[in-house]
Amino acid sequence: MKALILAGGMGTRLRPLTYSTPKPLVPLLGRPLVMHIIDSLPKQVDTVVLAVSYMKDALEEYFRRNDCGRKVVLVNETEPLGTGGAIWNVRQYLDGTFLCCNGDIVSSLDLQDFLDFHRAKGGMGSLALWQVPNPSAFGVVGLRNDRVSDFQEKPAPGTARSDLINAGIYCFEPEIMDLIGEGVVSLERSVFPLVLEKGLYGHRFSGYWVDCGTPESYLRAQAVLLDNGQDKEHPAVIEGVKLSGRNHLDGSILSYCQVGPHVCALPRSRIMGGSSVVNSILMEGAVIGRNCQVHDCILGPGATIPDGQTVQGKILVAGENECP
Ligand code: GTP
Repeated sequence: MKALILAGGMGTRLRPLTYSTPKPLVPLLGRPLVMHIIDSLPKQVDTVVLAVSYMKDALEEYFRRNDCGRKVVLVNETEPLGTGGAIWNVRQYLDGTFLCCNGDIVSSLDLQDFLDFHRAKGGMGSLALWQVPNPSAFGVVGLRNDRVSDFQEKPAPGTARSDLINAGIYCFEPEIMDLIGEGVVSLERSVFPLVLEKGLYGHRFSGYWVDCGTPESYLRAQAVLLDNGQDKEHPAVIEGVKLSGRNHLDGSILSYCQVGPHVCALPRSRIMGGSSVVNSILMEGAVIGRNCQVHDCILGPGATIPDGQTVQGKILVAGENECP
């Protein structure tokens, strides 16, 4: 069986991080985002098709060097074709029922259950649905007896027809290609309304779901995974450190500082004396100097915060003037 991962977006909301790393390769607890998705695919998926465009060379390089236990096929779009166009562009690789996932979703959905649901319903497509208290910032899905009845894109507050949103994880029959066609096409806006008539079903799940598209949601995904037991403590050096909550510390050097909750410090990163770091990530080689207060920050590889700074809610990358 094949699974398709949509991984060609430019990730503009995660800039400047995504100027040097495509979003699917941005590390989440030390593992590229896309690998969290690949790891969650059912065993019967033997081939993963990645629809790529932005920074495809970096993705090619990653999969050349890393064996993920399944065959990986990268299919390039010279221009990003949108979520629907990307599916049509890989049609020659998809010969049966296939799973399709946005490349930036972290969730507890059991994809085997989802596949079983799709097969039992027998429609042309199925959508995973996530319940939210306030759906007005999302694509809202109307549901009647498991069958999708309609869509509302970002409804004004109080006008949403349901509290279920499209979770960006799908299961399709290959006949969906007949409804797409060449060029730039949005799956959500142009294709789903056509699939409604052919049978489109919605599968609710509980647990957790995060779209990692923004700095806030990327940090939220990190916190959710930590709270669901993916914490790790293997700092290379740890001296006089006050740790709180769950953190992922791997090959990092921490001395006389306060760390946590929800901090990820990757190999060769350092947090120096007198600093306090909460809900943040330090990618490889990132350094927080002495007596800093750092909250809700993403430090890219090699990024540095000089001594004595207070920084909140920033993405910092190496080579820039890292402090506001
Ligand atoms: P922003 O620029 O920050 O909106 O991020 P994005 O470009 O990733 O867009 P968005 O978050 O809406 O995309 C959701 C998923 O679809 C991501 O996994 C993207 O990689 C993927 N995606 C979006 N547009 C395209 C496209 O044109 N082609 C392909 N292959 N994938 C896409």
